Amino acid sequence: MAVTHSHSTAPSAPVFPQDRTCPYHPPAQYPELAGRGPVGRMTLYDGREVWAVTGHAEARALLADPRLSADRKNPSFPVLLARVEDQATVDVPLLGVDDPEHARQRRMLIPRFGLKRVAAMRPAMQAVVDELIDAMLEREDERAGGIDLVSAFALPVPSTVICRMLGIPYADHEFFEARSRELLTSDTADEARAAREALRDYLDELVDAKQRGENTCEDGLLDELITERLAEGLVDRDELVMMAMILLVAGHETTANMISLGTYTLLEHPDQLAALRAEPALVPGAVEELLRFLSIADGMVRVATEDIDVAGHTIRAGDGVLLPTSVINRDSAAYDHPDTLDVRRVARHHVAFGYGVHQCLGQNLARAELEIALTTLFARIPTLRLAVSPDEVAVGPGGLLKPGSSLQGLYALPVTW
Ligand code: HEM
Repeated sequence: MAVTHSHSTAPSAPVFPQDRTCPYHPPAQYPELAGRGPVGRMTLYDGREVWAVTGHAEARALLADPRLSADRKNPSFPVLLARVEDQATVDVPLLGVDDPEHARQRRMLIPRFGLKRVAAMRPAMQAVVDELIDAMLEREDERAGGIDLVSAFALPVPSTVICRMLGIPYADHEFFEARSRELLTSDTADEARAAREALRDYLDELVDAKQRGENTCEDGLLDELITERLAEGLVDRDELVMMAMILLVAGHETTANMISLGTYTLLEHPDQLAALRAEPALVPGAVEELLRFLSIADGMVRVATEDIDVAGHTIRAGDGVLLPTSVINRDSAAYDHPDTLDVRRVARHHVAFGYGVHQCLGQNLARAELEIALTTLFARIPTLRLAVSPDEVAVGPGGLLKPGSSLQGLYALPVTW
């Protein structure tokens, strides 16, 4: 039987997002939601109810369904958080557009993100990781008091890598890291807009400088796009700048959070860490399992453009659809003992990178960085441990990323060895 709900239904549905209390488990009410069936309801911050797809099979089917749109300009598109209240006024390439526009944009970038190109970057990634660990090991005097793994390692690894890949000067990292954080975690749309505009102006000037031949770093993807696409009129300038922004922001903040949370989670699961150390061949699988288990990008959102029947419900055209990766990736119909971290598990098919046409463009890059960063960190600092009690990591100033950001990660992670 088809069931429909109006947006004004009493808010019986749990709210999204909620705060995590444990850095690596979904918020307390989410598992209960999963127990109700593969498709349920959740309430967004503005009181609007949306469909919440929590079943793994249903989520993948819907993410591959062209009747679900990612177009933020659709007036019915759900507003996930206050900070994106102005989403209908912003041109968001890739993530915010549907095919064929989306496919045109993605085609421009895909060769650079393929397995071969990423494999060729591995030696450079290894060198970055090694240098950062050398620098940490040199800070012998501070070790007893704890060294922050986020600023010393988890953030600079992906930040440096994405800068090199795009051709952005790493010297500007403090500026773009701070603005990216604001963009992804601010409480209001005004704050997020200010951060976005600052990043846009910065990248716009950088494109200008590159066009004048005033490069302050080695060429990268941006330079290729300028000479091959912009100069040929195949992309317009605003689109190019916004694309650069998405790549810069998505390219460092997510992976940084996976490195910090991944490290914390392994330290809290010593048997799993020991298995990895004993058998380094397990690392690629462990990275997939950590991606599944942590589901740091926890809230994909879409709007239906036609009626869709799924799991006994009818999603009506204009209804909002939320896909919480942290619940989908712990569907017991897809994974045995889903709440257990098991580095030997075959965790493929998780949706931590999404699924369908919008599936993460940077996934090969992220995987390579995670493999190299985690393997090298635990091999070179075998006695690595937390410098504070595990509980302090979730709360204190170095705690979890601001609740409500729907992005999970750590502001800081004090470690010692
Ligand atoms: C572990 C790290 C990462 C995670 C967990 C992650 C997660 C995701 C997810 C869930 C999506 C799909 C969103 C949706 O369908 O609504 C996505 C898309 C995307 N990601 Fe990532 N990502 C990561 C790393 C990266 C990196 C390193 C880059 C770039 C260099 C990147 C660039 C993108 C882009 C451009 C899209 C949009 C693709 C499209 O719409 O066609 N991501 N990512």
